[in-house]
Amino acid sequence: MCGIVGYVGNKKAVDVLLEGLTSLEYRGYDSSGIAVNIDGKVQLFKAAGKLQNLKNIVEKNYAEISKSTIGIGHIRWATHGAPTVENAHPHSCNCGKVAVVHNGIIENFKELRERLEKNGCTFRSQTDTETIAHLVATKFGEVHNLTEAVRLATKEIEGAYAICVIHQDLPDTIVATRRNAPLVVGLGEGENYVASDVPALIQYTKKAMYLEDNQIVTLTPNSIELIDIDNNPLKQKVETLPWEPVALSKMGYKHFMLKEIHEQPDVVRNVLSGKLRASDEKVLLKEVTLDKEKLRNLNRIQIVACGTSLHAAMVGKYLIEEFCGIPVDVEPSSEYIYRKTITDKNTLVIGVSQSGETADTITAVRQAKSKGSHILIITNRPDSTMAREADSLVPVNAGIEVSVAATKSYIAQLISFYLIAIYMAEVKNSMDLKELADLKHELIILPQKIEKILAHTEDIQRCARKFSGSKDFIFIARGINFPTALEGALKLKEISYINATGYTAGELKHGPIAMLDESMPVLSILMKGKVYDKILSNSEEAKARNARMIALTDSEDEKLKELFENIIEIPEISEILSPALAVVPLQLLAYYIAEFLGKDVDQPRNLAKSVTVE
Ligand code: M6R
Repeated sequence: MCGIVGYVGNKKAVDVLLEGLTSLEYRGYDSSGIAVNIDGKVQLFKAAGKLQNLKNIVEKNYAEISKSTIGIGHIRWATHGAPTVENAHPHSCNCGKVAVVHNGIIENFKELRERLEKNGCTFRSQTDTETIAHLVATKFGEVHNLTEAVRLATKEIEGAYAICVIHQDLPDTIVATRRNAPLVVGLGEGENYVASDVPALIQYTKKAMYLEDNQIVTLTPNSIELIDIDNNPLKQKVETLPWEPVALSKMGYKHFMLKEIHEQPDVVRNVLSGKLRASDEKVLLKEVTLDKEKLRNLNRIQIVACGTSLHAAMVGKYLIEEFCGIPVDVEPSSEYIYRKTITDKNTLVIGVSQSGETADTITAVRQAKSKGSHILIITNRPDSTMAREADSLVPVNAGIEVSVAATKSYIAQLISFYLIAIYMAEVKNSMDLKELADLKHELIILPQKIEKILAHTEDIQRCARKFSGSKDFIFIARGINFPTALEGALKLKEISYINATGYTAGELKHGPIAMLDESMPVLSILMKGKVYDKILSNSEEAKARNARMIALTDSEDEKLKELFENIIEIPEISEILSPALAVVPLQLLAYYIAEFLGKDVDQPRNLAKSVTVE
């Protein structure tokens, strides 16, 4: 949930730290800070609020701060303690020699704090992280070795963490470690890096080493030493990073979100590439390693996910049940982990996550794994913690997603579900071949239809301007597009803070209809197919209560003009594939409303891109 960056080498550390934090800003942005070693003294610079506030402080003291060639930095999403300067990282011990940045939660911090206070430590913040600084300083006093001090400290810490530590007496050493929170080391020439995530590294190096849980790494400009928590030396596994620095640029778009929405045609092509070559060929999905016989005999599938990924999972349920006849349960990971879930080795459990670092989903997946279920992970980050839990790993290849509001990763997850459902249907021989071929053809031409929507956004912009003053918003749909309604509502509330809700259109009359009056916009997702007429009647019911009606439709029926004040038309598409097209105008609608309202589109308040706490 927070972002960490560390640098040791020959560059001005502050430049690397601030650039690194800028590229990690999606992980949190309510306060930030750096620790550097200036003339043999560890010095901290911190600011509440956006990273720019820290940059302003650094600018004023740049001549001094830039002397340091070592440093650690942090960008925070508050868990323990409000987002104030005192609670911002790095944290330090009482003598000021140790500085620590941390991502995660120290579960036993209260006991540790009490003990440390009894031993004379004075705490200056409300954070759990400060305990680590005092603990490492205490251990250092005993063993006079920073790696050993960190190792001994981690033996006493419970919870999830990624930590970087520096000590004043060691101006060329960073020690870092992790447990259930990501950390990656970047290898340079005469310099080394460490960060929560790859974007902080790719402009400097493509050589990286992912830290595993309980590994401790000691970095100097010319060396990297890796040990486990029992002090055994470990072999390093260096990988080449697949990312290009250009992935982090807005490429002329005003916001990352808009850029990422516009990338979606290519994202669909990427997901399909190598897996679906022609409508008369079978889907190739070597990523699914579940034995075909076992797959044929599966009697249950559970899907766990959160937020937008949960909405993709809901579409996935619909597809798998429809194509394969296997019952599928979808559950928010955060609920799945706190009840008696019935799962065993005959259940396939699918975890869906853009980041692969969502704590709730990681826990859910691990819980299912411990019961012997085959774990299939659908993620945009094949290098993530969740990916490492996978028996079958299906990377969605959307490219790095910077905007906090997920867009292109959603469409990539949807397309992955289409491929998985088709693949399963082909293995099970459970679907009509002509129907399959038609769907495959439609998938192949889907990018062109998305491009058509993206080329003409005027109607959507008009609609956005007209309704940007609304306090509430209702999205209705039925069947396979119910998750589309939920996703449209989530996008809108995330970035514009408008109270938006998605309902199944049939449920409207069972309660929500009471809220309707002339101030309430109701957007009906009205795609041609078996529930079209039903949604139309539900829309009539809403109109009769004076709601302001908007249609998102692939129908050209002239009569719709009588019922709907605004009509957003999209290219014709089969009902079964329509969620992958209908979501695009909803993403744009949310974007333009937030943009008209002057909201911080890419970094909405209170949110962070990956939620690494439960
Ligand atoms: O990385 P994940 O897909 O596991 O993240 C799950 C949710 O936190 C995420 O989808 C969140 O709802 C997004 N901000 C949606 O735009």
